[in-house]
Amino acid sequence: MNKVELHLHLEGAAPPAFIRSLAQEKDIRLDGVFDEQGHYAHTDFTHFLKVYEAATAALKTPEDYHRLTLAVLRESAAHGVIYSETFLSPDFCGGRDIAAWREYLHAIREAADQAEREDGIILRGIVTCIRHFGPEKARETALCAAETAGDWVVGFGIAGAETIGQPKDFAYSFDMAREAGLRLTAHAGEWAGPQGIRDTIKDLKVERIGHGVRAIEDPALVEELAESGIVLEVCPGSNVSLGVYPDWASHPIARLYDKGVKVTVSTDDPPFFHTTMTHEFDMLAETFGWDDAVFSDLNRTALDAAFCTDDVRTSLL
Ligand code: ADE
Ligand code: ZN
Repeated sequence: MNKVELHLHLEGAAPPAFIRSLAQEKDIRLDGVFDEQGHYAHTDFTHFLKVYEAATAALKTPEDYHRLTLAVLRESAAHGVIYSETFLSPDFCGGRDIAAWREYLHAIREAADQAEREDGIILRGIVTCIRHFGPEKARETALCAAETAGDWVVGFGIAGAETIGQPKDFAYSFDMAREAGLRLTAHAGEWAGPQGIRDTIKDLKVERIGHGVRAIEDPALVEELAESGIVLEVCPGSNVSLGVYPDWASHPIARLYDKGVKVTVSTDDPPFFHTTMTHEFDMLAETFGWDDAVFSDLNRTALDAAFCTDDVRTSLL
């Protein structure tokens, strides 16, 4: 089945072997990034963020990002993904310097054009700031986003440690991005409870939420989400792997779907969580008995919620 993915972090999708060989080529030591089997070595969410950031030390140049983008898109396409909205981070691509950011973006876009021609997958970028880097750096990131907003850079978002700071600390950045014409999404309701989701919607005025699954703890919020049509970018394998839920059966995606919340399915950082879009769909089918009709519905929701132009959307129908 063709799949639409709305929530993928470019660096988080880097296969460990790719990062390892890049580091070897450049003679960079990556201490603590890999375990004995060669997988990423994280133990919990805080450690995950550390390992993620440490691995980016191997990604130095725009050319590295060109290679990364091609590898990631080829892997996604192999799992039936035809459209991928991917988080791109000026923090790792030139340290939020606008001239450098343009060079990285150019390289990523060239790789995406190649993957579109050769593998039939379309990429659109969501520039993302990182919450635990603080509001000042987020403003610089939003400026990078605003300067490069267009038909290819389509959104702005925030990832990182959700329990640090408040959504309103980032309102200025989200306002700037919105004024530049970017569509908005924010990680919320992964590590913080329902209030974090409420504050994110109120203060950042987003139309999608990354994760959002902890809305299930507040039935009134679930109803509000269903009524407002705010779309959740749910990443069940990520949540189970990082311990937000102990197993697939406890995951609330099916309950949210049954209550009329617009849910979609993504992988987040697939090699970190030993997942793929195929695995996500298989596990949802096995755990909740979901069939092709449900998956078509989810894909349709994702396509409707995608930040691309209607031309692109129509071409994927
Ligand atoms: N960055 C990459 N993956 C993330 C996640 N699951 N939550 C927050 N920030 C992230
Ligand atoms: Zn994420």
